[in-house]
Formats: sequence, C-alpha cells, structure tokens
Amino acid sequence: MIDEIERIGLEARGRIAAAATLDALRAVESEVLGKKAPLTLLRRRLGALDPEERRRAGQVLNETRDALVATLAAHRAELEAAARRARLEAERLDLTETLQTRSRGHLHLVTQTTDHLQDLFVGMGFTVAEGPEIESDWHNFEALNIPADHPARGMWDTLYVDVGEPETVLLRTHTSPVQIRVMTTQPPPIYAVMPGRVYRRDTADASHMPVFHQIEGLAVDRGISFADLAGTLEAFTTAFFGGAIHSRLRPSYFPFTEPSAEYDINCLLCEGGGCRTCGQTGWLELGGCGMVHPEVLGNCGLDPEEWSGFAFGFGIDRLALMKHGIDDIRELFTNDVRFLEQF
Ligand code: PHE
Repeated sequence: MIDEIERIGLEARGRIAAAATLDALRAVESEVLGKKAPLTLLRRRLGALDPEERRRAGQVLNETRDALVATLAAHRAELEAAARRARLEAERLDLTETLQTRSRGHLHLVTQTTDHLQDLFVGMGFTVAEGPEIESDWHNFEALNIPADHPARGMWDTLYVDVGEPETVLLRTHTSPVQIRVMTTQPPPIYAVMPGRVYRRDTADASHMPVFHQIEGLAVDRGISFADLAGTLEAFTTAFFGGAIHSRLRPSYFPFTEPSAEYDINCLLCEGGGCRTCGQTGWLELGGCGMVHPEVLGNCGLDPEEWSGFAFGFGIDRLALMKHGIDDIRELFTNDVRFLEQF
C-alpha cells in the first residue's frame, strides 16, 4: 500500500510540474486531489488494513497529500508570476526619448539676417519699430516729399490696393513710410530701426523679387550731422561684415533726404581689390541714406530749426546674399530645403 501511495505521489508531482498554464493546473489539481483522484480512492481502502499498517499507511498518505498541496501552490505561484510578467510586457509603453534623426528645421536666412541686424542696431542704442505693409499714399510718398506728379515716383513701381479713391492705398514700396509713422507718433530724440516686407511691381530675376525686405534707420535729435550718419554706417559695417570691410558714401538723390547718398561697402569677395562681382570697382552698393529733408520733418510736425536727423534704408535680402555669396535672390524664396538648410 505504501509503495502504491508513493508511486501515485510521484506520478502526481510529474503531472503538476507538466502543467504549463493556470487552466491546465486547475484541471490537474482536481485529477490528483479531487473526489475521484487515486489518492482519495486509496484512502477508502485504509479501513481494510490491520491497525498497525493502517496507521503507517495513513501517515504516508497524509504526508503525500500535504506535499502535493504544497507543490501545487508553489507551481501556481510560479505560473501566476509568469502570467503577470507577460501582461506587463504586453502593456509596456516605450517612453525612451529617441534621438532626432531628421532635421528639425531652423529660421529662414532672411529672418536670421533681420534678427542679426536688429541685434546690432539695438546694441548701438536703437529701438525697433514696425509699420503696416498696406500703406496710405500720404505715408509712402506725400509725406516723404514725393508729390503725385513728382518724377521720382518712377523710382518705385507701385502696386496699388483697390480701396477708397484710386491710388490712395498701396503696398508700401519701401520701409521709409515707417519713418513718418515714428516721427508723427513719438517725440524726438528718436533712434529707431524699422525692418519689414516691401512690394514693387517687378518681375523676379536674379537680383529682383516683387516682395522683398528692407531695414530702415532713423535718428532725429538736436545737432545730428552727416558725420553721425557716416560713423553709424561704418560702425555697423565692421560689426556686421567683420573688420576688413569698410563703407563709403557717394552723392545721390532721394526726395526725402538732403543731402542724399548711396551707401557702398567693400566688395566681400575681393575686399576692395576689384573682381567680377563688383565690376572691378572694389565696392558693392548696399542702400540709400541721407539727412532727413526739412520738408519731411515739417510734414511730421517737427521744427527743422530745432531738430535734425539722418535716415538710411537697405535691402535685407541683398545683404544676406552678399554675406553668404549667393548669386540669385530667387533661391531664398524657392523654398528648396536642400538650399535653405545650408544656412
Ligand atoms: N527708401 C529708399 C529706397 O527704398 C532708401 C532710403 C532710405 C534712402 C532712407 C534714403 C534714406 O530706395
């Protein structure tokens, strides 16, 4: 009998160990411990044994049964742990931050250049002002000493907006109207730069776009002279382009400045020696400037006997092209990422 019990116990342990899932284990449990299990059936036969053998067989049977219960509990715990691990693994969220393999992009070259220009002028004591892109004829022309029939209007190919009386509202052709807006809204002393988008009825080519960007500068104070203008532009030039590049002023004409000048810098390629880019002159033209015309000060309610000022304006896109040796302005706006990501 005892041998039989031990054999049954051994076989039951094997079956418990072989159960691979909790469901299988539940089935094995009733097979080895349930009402019809071999061990249970054996217990009924104990009564037929003589007292001494019954005692010993009964003890072995109880020990075997206890051992099976313990083995079952241990294997169940193992299977439950494995099931929990599997569930956690399945529910796992990968929160690892991955390295960006794709480029995230950056500010456009024109925006970078505008920021750089603003930073430099702010460092020189200027503030930054802005004006509307849709302007009145008065701000864009009239107040700047360019009356309706003035031949200088031909300097700017104007795009008009179909609002109000014909040719009274337009897309600003330069940032100079912001000078007027600043002078009519804030008292001198004024030291301001005014960046922004401007529009001209031009066909796009290597050096022209119908929409481009300018930055305007304006200083109005007591005793401002042409030397202040020249000094400011020279300080800006060396700060922006580096110490090898200098500036010069050449007589020119603008209706809103008197005297007026063209602002040139040393050619960035040959640094003044003369090359194809600068037409062997050693100089590149950057923009216009001059002393604010007394008429303009008067149009803004400022007394030209008390106040004087200088103004300048140049193309931001052109500056970016020069600085980076790009030979076609259209590249800036074609938005080919392979081009833009170089800057
Ligand atoms: N507004 C002029 C232009 O667009 C440039 C300029 C600005 C000239 C300020 C003189 C003073 O050509």
